[in-house]
Amino acid sequence: MAIVIRTAKEIAKMRRSGFALRNVLDVLRNSIAPGMTTMDLEKIAEAKIAEAGAVSAFKGYHDYPCVLCTSVNEEVVHGIPSAKRTLQEGDVVSIDCGLIIDGYYADSATTLPVGKISAPAQKLLDATEQSLQAAISVVRPGATLGDVGAAVQEVVEAAGFSVVRDFVGHGIGTEMHEEPQVPNYGRKAQGLRLRQGMVLAIEPMVNAGGHAVRVLEDGWTAVTVDGSLSAHFEHTIAVGADGAEVLTA
Ligand code: MF3
Ligand code: CO
Repeated sequence: MAIVIRTAKEIAKMRRSGFALRNVLDVLRNSIAPGMTTMDLEKIAEAKIAEAGAVSAFKGYHDYPCVLCTSVNEEVVHGIPSAKRTLQEGDVVSIDCGLIIDGYYADSATTLPVGKISAPAQKLLDATEQSLQAAISVVRPGATLGDVGAAVQEVVEAAGFSVVRDFVGHGIGTEMHEEPQVPNYGRKAQGLRLRQGMVLAIEPMVNAGGHAVRVLEDGWTAVTVDGSLSAHFEHTIAVGADGAEVLTA
């Protein structure tokens, strides 16, 4: 499938999906606390998605069982919520959620601290979030996907961390994963040129140690090979005339 340019009307619909998703993640941010399980987070999200009149983009996707991915500490992405996984003070949890309203998708992730976290863990969260903001700030018609990846990589590597290569961002619209792929690494001025009306999910995954990841026996949970902490921030953005419009902000 080719890269789709969305009309203003379609982007207005995606704004609604993005707004509803932002609310789900905000509620989770305000609820998370030591002693909760990742399944508790799942239940809250499930209720909020229903309340918004939305449908989960994740549940049933390649048989994925939940509306959230909850990836704790050295888990990078695609951690499956579990009633057996109790969060402890000092943990960091990457929460990824996607939903559909009126046929249009939104996808966003954030890494949340559980209670008080260590200074190095906070530095990882800050660098990852800043790398996403840096990527968003280079988006405009005429910029390239290489500019986007290079912006992420510059912030992450300056902080002494590594960008995950095995998973990438993506186009999004009437499917969760559309063309193009959006790597979190690259070279300025290389790759596809962005055009007004493209909608992308930009999602840096950053490891405190090396970039290598592996998938656990459950077939989903990706973890760092070296056991180091990992963080993940994601926004769905539309390429506007003067820059990015963040639909999940
Ligand atoms: N949010 C992920 C992405 O950006 C997809 C989650 S996989 C699922 O690609 F199975 F949980 F849906
Ligand atoms: Co995504």
